[in-house]
Amino acid sequence: QKRFTINEFKKAKENKNKISMLTAYDYPTARILDQAGVDSILVGDSLGMVVLGYEDTVRVTMEDMLHHIKAVSRGVKRALVVGDMPFLSYHTGRHESVRNAGRLMSEGGCKAIKLEGGEEVVETVKAIIAAGIPVMGHLGYTPQSINVFGGHKAQGRTIETAEKIFNDALALQKAGAFAIVLECVPYKLAEFISGRLEIPSIGIGSGAGCDGQVLVAHDILGMFKDFSPRHAKKYLDMEGDITRAAEMYIKEVKEELFPNESNSFTVEDEILVQLKE
Ligand code: KIV
Ligand code: NA
Repeated sequence: QKRFTINEFKKAKENKNKISMLTAYDYPTARILDQAGVDSILVGDSLGMVVLGYEDTVRVTMEDMLHHIKAVSRGVKRALVVGDMPFLSYHTGRHESVRNAGRLMSEGGCKAIKLEGGEEVVETVKAIIAAGIPVMGHLGYTPQSINVFGGHKAQGRTIETAEKIFNDALALQKAGAFAIVLECVPYKLAEFISGRLEIPSIGIGSGAGCDGQVLVAHDILGMFKDFSPRHAKKYLDMEGDITRAAEMYIKEVKEELFPNESNSFTVEDEILVQLKE
């Protein structure tokens, strides 16, 4: 089975094939999503909220990311695994940024990294790519800056901010990024930017005009209901299904319906006779 590489990202845009991307944080989920045929799997720092119970992505560390990128990479045969660079892992100098990006790839096993920001990270992006590490950009709503945004979500609704996102996208492309996530960008703006970019845009909450889509697996599976953004379409109710399964199990244990013989191991009667003697 042919791997989906960063060249496939480029080809998909040229051929007008939409790119499908989902997050995963563990081995079994990554394996299932890969076998289902998703083109790319993001080990996002959304990990912090949907798996580790942090209140935002700011708390996620390099060690958190490495731990989960390793698990996901072991489960994937075809999809391009992209690892998120966590908060502050690419802001304190080129050296440390390249080293951290390199660790996600060489120790973690992902094939590309993603980081947030535009013009202000361009030099970092260039240095990481120069080291042989493909970079995916991330513009619009960038959750690691939640404390600067003050919680406000949709970005690019004024001419200044719309122009900034557009210029940032062009700057990332020029720096060598192979794709750019556009998060919560008004769909007409996302469509305009996507039309002007040679590299694919991957939208989340940014409408159908993007070249691909990404969602948080826990959102589409109905596994994380602490908050429910409007773009997160639910395809399953796993919280409900898990609750029902657990309730059934508890009831069967209490009522001595589980386990029965088919769930148990046997021993020759002879052995018990000897034991009692
Ligand atoms: O961390 C994440 O899951 C992400 C996607 C939502 C793009 O960055
Ligand atoms: Na992220």
